[in-house]
Amino acid sequence: MGDTTTISQPATEAGRAPAPQPPQPQQQIGVVTAVTGFKLSCLLQGPSAPFQGQGTYSAAQIGALVKVPTPNAMAFGFIQNLTLHQRATDEKMYRAATAEIELLGELAVRSPGTPPVFSRGISTYPVLGAPAYTATERDLARIYAKPDTPTLQIGVLHQDPDKIAYLRAQDFLSKHSAIVGTVGSGKSCALTLILRALLAAHPNGHVVLLDPHDEYAQAFQGMAEVITPQNLQLPYWLLSYEEIVEVLCSRDPVSRSREASILKDAIIEAKREFLATPGAAGPAGSGTYLTVDTPTPYRLTTVVQKIGQAMGKLDRPDNTLPYLRLMTTIETLRQDKRYAFMFSGLSVRDNMAEILSRVLRIPVAGKPITIVGLSAVPSEIVNVLVSLLCRLIFDFAVWNDRGETVPIMLVCDEAHRYIPREESAGFEPTRRSIARIAKEGRKYGVSLCLVTQRPSEISEAILSQCSTLFALRMTNERDQAFVRSTLPESAAGLLNTLPTLRQQEAIIIGEGVAHPMRIRFNDLDPSHHPKGKATSFTEAWGEDRKGLDFVNSIVERWRHQTP
Ligand SMILES: Nc1ncnc2c1ncn2[C@@H]1O[C@H](COP(=O)(O)OP(=O)(O)O)[C@@H](O)[C@H]1O
Ligand SMILES: [Mg+2]
Repeated sequence: MGDTTTISQPATEAGRAPAPQPPQPQQQIGVVTAVTGFKLSCLLQGPSAPFQGQGTYSAAQIGALVKVPTPNAMAFGFIQNLTLHQRATDEKMYRAATAEIELLGELAVRSPGTPPVFSRGISTYPVLGAPAYTATERDLARIYAKPDTPTLQIGVLHQDPDKIAYLRAQDFLSKHSAIVGTVGSGKSCALTLILRALLAAHPNGHVVLLDPHDEYAQAFQGMAEVITPQNLQLPYWLLSYEEIVEVLCSRDPVSRSREASILKDAIIEAKREFLATPGAAGPAGSGTYLTVDTPTPYRLTTVVQKIGQAMGKLDRPDNTLPYLRLMTTIETLRQDKRYAFMFSGLSVRDNMAEILSRVLRIPVAGKPITIVGLSAVPSEIVNVLVSLLCRLIFDFAVWNDRGETVPIMLVCDEAHRYIPREESAGFEPTRRSIARIAKEGRKYGVSLCLVTQRPSEISEAILSQCSTLFALRMTNERDQAFVRSTLPESAAGLLNTLPTLRQQEAIIIGEGVAHPMRIRFNDLDPSHHPKGKATSFTEAWGEDRKGLDFVNSIVERWRHQTP
């Protein structure tokens, strides 16, 4: 090995990602010493004094793109790991450094006279002793060229900030995706950026975004229908049997099953009665196919009445407890103002089509995204509400006229809350609604985008359905290992950089991009930043502003349940 190696990247502080900078001219970093499957080992060319215990091997960086000529093409891969081997004798310190490279694909001339094109996979392996070089600007331009399908521009390549990173719109949209990364790594901004780019290109889209912290409303001002419990009625009669059991019945399994069966009979009777009311049936039609899950209106007062009647027929009065409990719970919820969006039910009418039309944006009417603000929803029923919404979206797609599908994208922030890995945690129907979309949604034109800081706590079966992955900085070992296990081998080199990514940087892998890439998301306009209502302690504790009046006003609201 020669001693003329130039250093392409400055040495960095340990643990920090190197700053993106324009790629240097092609430069040899070493030679191939082993070839196994899709992996190469390279002996790295040393610094100024090879094998003498001096200097650093700074030309090779984890996650860097390198190339190795093969007999008929140029193979490319990412550096996955680096090792320095040292041995000291009496007189000298001997050193050798090796790099493991995960192959990605090759650049080859497909037909004479045409420029080389990049494709995944390798047709011929590099030979032992072949030189390994850093990729050049031209290589990057060829590999990450603009695909000839519609694209979205969301950022720039890490290796070269002058090169645009393209997302393939159709592949990204029609399949499921996930955005993962530690808190503060830039997931919410990335999501906003992607959706804004998407909706600018497709102003008649249908996106439903579940927003647990009410942070997206201002990021999509003017183009979003913002739904909160204050402005939408989602009547209880839309709930499935399982969902209403979750809301109304006791926790302990024995009481729950007794209450559930009483409730079931009462609901079916109440539905029949409502449909029999002259003029009330509306588009819901006749009751011949009625089940406890059919989304037809019924009155809660009738349910209470039916439960009362059933209780009256009991021959042993000591069995009345489940009946009484149900009636009390229903009455309490009807009085509770926090539940008014679901249980007020002053006038029951069949407005299911209106609700769907508003939530799914049909017609779009200039607002292609619905933001469902969940922060004001009582925590006891957030899961039920999410289950209901996901089920409505999926069932709407299933009952869609095949010829005229309205494709819908469901975005779920903080997804680990709704689809936890542990079956016992969370609410089973919610997990099932989302799992059903993950499994079958594509068939019906429903795509899912999951956003989470805890990928390892999400149901593996659901996350593995996500074809495009945006992985932002991730420090937790378990999360990294989990993400790696759900992905193809060829991306392992890039994924090793996950803990050192900077805010706003991401690795994108999967169907949405031509090839795995490390990018920096574009800067989001400050007026489009998602903003949570996080309390600033430092600001609030800065001065003594509030008095007894303030406490009084809270007590007042508390008692009268007025927001
Ligand atoms: N693309 C971006 N453009 C501008 N600022 C960003 C971008 N990505 C992240 N940031 C900054 O990082 C902060 C945290 O990002 P955020 O998206 O809220 O992270 P997360 O949702 O992962 O917790 C933001 O408040 C913003 O200041
Ligand atoms: Mg966030």
